Amino acid sequence: MTTLTVLPSGKSYEVAAGTSLLKALQAAGEPIISKCGGEARCESCHVFVTAGRKSLSKIQRVENEKLDGIVGVSSSSRLACQAILGEEAVTVELLK
Ligand code: FES
Repeated sequence: MTTLTVLPSGKSYEVAAGTSLLKALQAAGEPIISKCGGEARCESCHVFVTAGRKSLSKIQRVENEKLDGIVGVSSSSRLACQAILGEEAVTVELLK
């Protein structure tokens, strides 16, 4: 298990390692959008990882290519559907 903290709500959740950020956020009832169903095609699940970035799975080519096309992307950007939680605590910021 690991702890996922979500901004701006500030709420924290205990989540099993190996869960995608998208599934964890959806299960928690946080307002994350997933237009493509987690296939790395829609970019709607873009989030900023503000802490614990190294605990997440590495960015693969398909995610990297999608991130390249997003306006407002930063070094802390991830597609929640492609990021798998590890054992360390993670904090993410949802886009408005
Ligand atoms: S849900 Fe579509 S890219 Fe992540």
